[in-house]
Amino acid sequence: MPTAGEVEALREEALAAVEAADDADALEAVRIAWLGRKAGRIPALMKAIPTVPPEDRSAFGQAVNALKAAVTHRLEGRQAELEASTGEAPAIDVTLPGRPVRLGRRHPITRATREMVEIFARLGFERVEGPEVEDEWHNFVGLNIPPAHPARDPLDNYFLTDDALLRTQTSTVQIRIMENRPPPVRLVAPGRVYRPDTVDAGHSNMFHQLEGLWVDEGVTLADLKAVLSAFARAWGGPGARTRFLPSYFPFTEPSAELYLSCLLCGGSGCPACKRTGWMEIGGCGMVDPNVFQAVGYDPERVTGFAFGLGIDRSAMLRYGIHDIRLLFANDVRFLRQF
Ligand code: DAH
Repeated sequence: MPTAGEVEALREEALAAVEAADDADALEAVRIAWLGRKAGRIPALMKAIPTVPPEDRSAFGQAVNALKAAVTHRLEGRQAELEASTGEAPAIDVTLPGRPVRLGRRHPITRATREMVEIFARLGFERVEGPEVEDEWHNFVGLNIPPAHPARDPLDNYFLTDDALLRTQTSTVQIRIMENRPPPVRLVAPGRVYRPDTVDAGHSNMFHQLEGLWVDEGVTLADLKAVLSAFARAWGGPGARTRFLPSYFPFTEPSAELYLSCLLCGGSGCPACKRTGWMEIGGCGMVDPNVFQAVGYDPERVTGFAFGLGIDRSAMLRYGIHDIRLLFANDVRFLRQF
């Protein structure tokens, strides 16, 4: 049985063994040799405490405990050193930067809609909305589209019942507002419209329009041109030009198609504008007296103009998007660019 002094000496030996261990396995072997419960040298000493003569027992016990504490402490220290030097880092590295949260952003259609509405708001137009499921009256009759008109063809529309369909145009909102408000009105109505078109780079069976309507006493075609030209410059930049080509819509007379100088090539001609330098972005015209009659306005007293702009088209022009399908594919690789 070693004396207390000899136990003290064992400390040197144990600590030297710990120090000499140069990998995790070697260190574990040292731990087992000294602290292992079955055959470790220190547990053996502890088991021997009761056999020590009573007068030496206390000093001996204290020496063994001190030895155990010193060896345990040094083993832990050495383990940390080895982990640090082998790169076996602890499981959590508190110095790592946090994981970035990727911010979402507005869809280009939402962006375009808001910007277009904002431009018209500066010109005094109020934003309103109407339902996407419409009845025959608001989608056709009120808009002076007679029963025999080809636009009524059930095959060209998404009918839900005999008298309910997905609206084919936002012009429906003109009727809804004028039915419920006396003149003057000055509004824009953005929204989705639906037509069973074959989908390709330029067509979608669901797309977006921005309807506009200004009715008051003395509103003229000059006002129409002024407002839409102002819009074109605000949307396309100071150099953007407009072109009004005579056209036909049942609810306006006279009617025109609105062209914007191509924003992609500046008007010199490119594939996007089919080398014409112009892009059609919507229709417009002076409200037909029949429409005023349908909603109970006096066509002898008020006049007005209306327009319907393609939001998707305007966005494609502005942002240089060549395929409308990209707008509805929900592909974040595309959407992230806006
Ligand atoms: N509703 C027409 C369409 O979908 C667009 C349009 C043309 C709207 C002339 C108007 C307008 O308000 O005056 O093709």
